[in-house]
Order: sequence, then C-alpha cells, then structure tokens
Amino acid sequence: MGIEGMHAGVESTLAGGCDNSAMDVLRNVSLRSFNTLGADVQAQALVQVACEADIHALLGDATWRDVPILILGGGSNIVLTRDVPGLVLSVALRGRRLVRETEHLRIVEAAAGEPWHDFVAWTLDNGWPGLENLAGIPGTVGAAPVQNIGAYGVELQDRFDELDYIDLRTGQTGTLGAAECGFGYRQSIFRYGTWLAEGKRAGQEEPDKQGAASLRGHALITRVRFALPKVYQPVLGYADIEQRLLAAGGAEPDARTLFDWVCEIRSAKLPDPREPGLGNVGSFFKNPTVSEEQFQHIIGRHPHLVHYRLGDGTIKFAAAWMIDACGWKAQSMGPARVYARHAIVLVHPGGPAAGAEVLALARAIQASVCERFGVVLEIEPVVV
Ligand code: EPU
Repeated sequence: MGIEGMHAGVESTLAGGCDNSAMDVLRNVSLRSFNTLGADVQAQALVQVACEADIHALLGDATWRDVPILILGGGSNIVLTRDVPGLVLSVALRGRRLVRETEHLRIVEAAAGEPWHDFVAWTLDNGWPGLENLAGIPGTVGAAPVQNIGAYGVELQDRFDELDYIDLRTGQTGTLGAAECGFGYRQSIFRYGTWLAEGKRAGQEEPDKQGAASLRGHALITRVRFALPKVYQPVLGYADIEQRLLAAGGAEPDARTLFDWVCEIRSAKLPDPREPGLGNVGSFFKNPTVSEEQFQHIIGRHPHLVHYRLGDGTIKFAAAWMIDACGWKAQSMGPARVYARHAIVLVHPGGPAAGAEVLALARAIQASVCERFGVVLEIEPVVV
C-alpha cells in the first residue's frame, strides 16, 4: 500500500529518527489505500514509521500520550467499519538479512514492513528454502506472527525463531520466542482478545492463553527472525499440492517449483485484492473445530462435510464447504459478495461502508451455517 491516493488534511511534522528527517503527521486521512478491502474510512492522524527511532520519538511526544493507537501492516487482514480515532501507525520498517547459521539452521531476519511474499521470494533467491508453502500471502512480515499465517500445511510458527517488538505503553523494546508468542491456529498473544469480540458472542470456548497476558494493540512488532532448516524438507501433504505432485508424475519438486505451485494454486482460487471490485481480506472465517462428540452428531446428518482430524483429538470442518452447501457461493448482499471461486472469501468493490457491508454479509452467512450445521463460524480478520 502506498501513500499515493490518500486525501490528507492538515499536515504537520515531527522530529524523526531516520537521518534526523521529519515525520509527516497526516490528519483526517483516507485509509482506503491502506487496507485491501478498500474501506474508505478516515484516520484522525496517520504516521508512516520508517525506523524504530520514529516510533520512540512518537511515544515520547506528549501529543500522543493517552491517544488510541492502531498499528497497520499491509492492511490485508483488517475490516475497518468506522473512522479510526487517534493515531494510525503504518509500519514501513525495511531490511532483511541472514543473521547467523547453526549446524542445521539458517536464522533469517526481516523488518516488519517488508512485504511477506517478496521476503519469501528473496529467501529462495538466496537458496534458503523453508517458507515456500507460505508464498503469495498478502501483507507484511510484521503482521505474519499476529495471526500465525498458514497455508498448504505450514504455519509461521513452524519456521519461527523470535521477534523484536516495542511496547507502546512503555516504549520499551523486547524479544519474544515462540512459546511466549502463544501461537495457535490463526492466533497469537498479539491477537488474544479477538475472542472477546467474536468468539464470546459466537458462544465459543475461550482459547488457551497459556498463562500469557494479551499484547493486543500494545506491541508493535519491529523485526521477525525465522529458523530455516538447511536440509530441504518439502511439505507436500496438502490435497491441492498432492494433486500437482500427481500431475507432475510424483517427482519431488525443488523449493522454487513448490513456490510456483503454491502461487498458481492460490491465484486459481483466491482473488487478487488489487483487481477492481475484488477487495478482500483472504479467508473471512476460521475453519471451526469441534469435539469428537459434536463431530459425530454433525457428520451423522451431513456425511459429506469436509473435515480434518487434528492431533489433539478435535476435528476441523471446512468452513468454505459449509458456506457453499448453504448456497452462498457467488451470492451478494448489497455490494458485498461471496467470491465465486472460493466460498470462504468475501469481496467488495470498496467504499466508505465496505467494512460494515462485508460484515453484514458475514453475519448472514454465520446465521445460515449455524442454522444448518449447528456450528458457529468465527470471523478471522481483525474487526475495527
Ligand atoms: N471448498 C468448498 N467450496 C469452496 C471452496 C472450498 O467446498 O468454495 C472445500 C474444498 O473442496 C476443500 C475445503 O473446502 O475441501 C477447504 O478449502 P481449501 O483447501 O481451499 O482451504 P480453506 O480451509 O478454505 C485454508 C486457509 C487459507 C489457506 C488454505 C490453504 C483458513 C481460515 N484458511 O483455507 O488461508 O490459504 O487453507 O492452506 O484457515 C487466509 O487465512 O486468509 C487464507 C486464505
């Protein structure tokens, strides 16, 4: 997302830390080009932070004390339903490097503002496989741990080493390892509390917080380090990948080929948010998990429901299949629409009410799925 296309109001500047340059504080700015759904809501104030010293300068400035702060990465997993009061920090920290090598691992680091897909491509250009299944995911490196991004059999936590962050309440910097990040399925310590807004209303059980307090809204991730195995270990178990493998005669693909397959599979199924009319946030719902008892009850009535058994004894249902079975695919509600090629994705042409309209469609889908299957779908992106 760029700064172009914004409709900025009064601008002021603030001493920044990058080469002593000044930071622009943009007032009453449209966030349309800062979120992939294209929600045309206003931020009261917005600053693009290009270095860590900028963040410390902002936190030390009395103007922003006690003002709510919203952190934006690529804006690809957020539904903005209203104007945003306070300060929006658009994270534009850049840089990536090989930190060190151990006998079995390469530790590779990227700054939070690096585009995720470009970072993955860069690791492969350097001959460092490990992230190829996560190719093509929109958003930034800094947003990736927040929802523990995952695709085609790999989750961020499988390749995670540690991350650095700044606590926006105290200005202190810290480093967190995997256990402290509390990763789960599309979940982390940086998101706990989403449940309060969505899961509780949906009657779901509170996720295991592993004793950790939520850092939701309080931590600005600055850098993420990944541990990439030196020995290439392709992950080929996901159904879509297995099909490609069969078509290719069963020969094990190298990392670049697997990267290409993932990009092709994604673009065949998922809409590119840059295409006009197809603003979206990827999967709008999580795939719901149920207990064995609930599973037996539901599958007895819907024997074809696509599901996966997880290691902890619970069963995950395919949300897309359930939405599809309710007849929602390609259906619209106002300008919001269920994507014709994948029922878990909601698309919108963008505009001031994009967030609210997509959310209204999502609520209608939740009601249908709940009525038919007795399962509550939880909304996956962050709703503001
Ligand atoms: N299906 C339907 N109808 C549809 C689409 C799919 O019945 O319109 C069925 C498929 O046949 C398949 C099942 O639903 O059996 C699941 O579909 P798919 O394999 O495409 O994956 P998903 O579970 O819907 C998840 C992630 C995606 C990730 C893919 C691939 C979540 C919420 N979504 O989708 O992540 O790319 O697996 O690993 O877990 C995202 O988080 O934004 C995202 C796109």
